[in-house]
Amino acid sequence: MSSASSHPFAATNYLSNEPIANLRQYLPVHSVVITQAVIQQHYGHHWQGLPVILTGDGEQHKTLLTMHDIYRQLIELNIDRSGMLVGVGGGIVCDITGFAAATYLRGIACAFVPTTLLAQADAAIGGKNGVNFQGFKNMVGTFYQPKFILSDPATLQTLPRHELANGLAEIVKHALIADAAYFDFIENNFREILNLDEDAIRHITLRSYQIKSAVVLRDEKEQNLRRILNFGHTYGHAIEKVAGISHGHAVSIGMAAALRLSMKHTSLSLNQYERVIRLLRNLDLPISTSADPQLIVGALTADKKREDGEIHFVLLESIGKAVIKKIAVTELQNFMLSS
Ligand SMILES: NC(=O)c1ccc[n+]([C@@H]2O[C@H](COP(=O)([O-])OP(=O)(O)OC[C@H]3O[C@@H](n4cnc5c(N)ncnc54)[C@H](O)[C@@H]3O)[C@@H](O)[C@H]2O)c1
Ligand SMILES: [Zn+2]
Repeated sequence: MSSASSHPFAATNYLSNEPIANLRQYLPVHSVVITQAVIQQHYGHHWQGLPVILTGDGEQHKTLLTMHDIYRQLIELNIDRSGMLVGVGGGIVCDITGFAAATYLRGIACAFVPTTLLAQADAAIGGKNGVNFQGFKNMVGTFYQPKFILSDPATLQTLPRHELANGLAEIVKHALIADAAYFDFIENNFREILNLDEDAIRHITLRSYQIKSAVVLRDEKEQNLRRILNFGHTYGHAIEKVAGISHGHAVSIGMAAALRLSMKHTSLSLNQYERVIRLLRNLDLPISTSADPQLIVGALTADKKREDGEIHFVLLESIGKAVIKKIAVTELQNFMLSS
């Protein structure tokens, strides 16, 4: 088994105490910034003089076509293997930058400056990247670690408010699957978090980084472990598809459903269930949907995780402790239709 120190992920530095204004100190001479127009407008002065590649905003731009455009510009800029690609933006920019860095000249260095709460607490972490292909999400991609992740909570001040939910749902997920004390922190500080208090944001992004990277580090051999990061996502993805709501909202509803299922299959208490529901509500996250349950069940059972009429479902034994159980599709259908 590989130890933490020999794993490439261990080389990634998560800088949570470093303002974006200090970014330049960490960059080699031949750095290229990859970002989007809105972020360039707000923060471009921090990398003045460096070449910038602008990419489109939205999932429809996370494609090989964008990659084509990036490769072309990198060649025009004469970027060789001494170069570094610096992705500044949300999960989309980080995914695009990671993929471009992993493939250009068979791999050059990259770094991320995540500027959404989702990217700071989740998407920039773990070394997975990918682009969409013919309507399939993240169909083509690589595992590739950035040299560092500079996460500055101050950048969230310019983030559209509705984007916060995507990060909040994953943060609650990390606490639920791995750390009861982290859950207590979010519970006790939900107002500070919603107000984007920098110390509170710094605490949660760093803790989420630690949890996600610990899972990823240990997962190399244990195929099962990374699955716990899917808590709330099996049902969540189905709702996202059917109801057309944001990923964060869908995951929140998915977590509430997984908790109800947990009370049937594990020792999760009603008291703990209610605590989680209260926290989701306090964070302005939804816990139910008016979408047609038949359609959700249809989308759920079409999910690729289905195996022999059973689905690996991540459940909670208690706040801070996840377990994976195989649950029969028929039982899930009945559960979804009756709850
Ligand atoms: N690789 C992974 O492990 C992983 C994990 C989770 C999600 N993802 C991917 O992440 C993507 C979603 O990321 P996201 O939620 O960050 O969305 P996003 O990257 O689309 O960013 C959301 C919006 O906010 C804008 N924005 C970003 N930062 C800003 C700032 N500081 N100020 C003003 N505007 C800002 C962006 O331009 C965009 O319009 C998806 O494509 C998903 O597949 C990847
Ligand atoms: Zn997610």
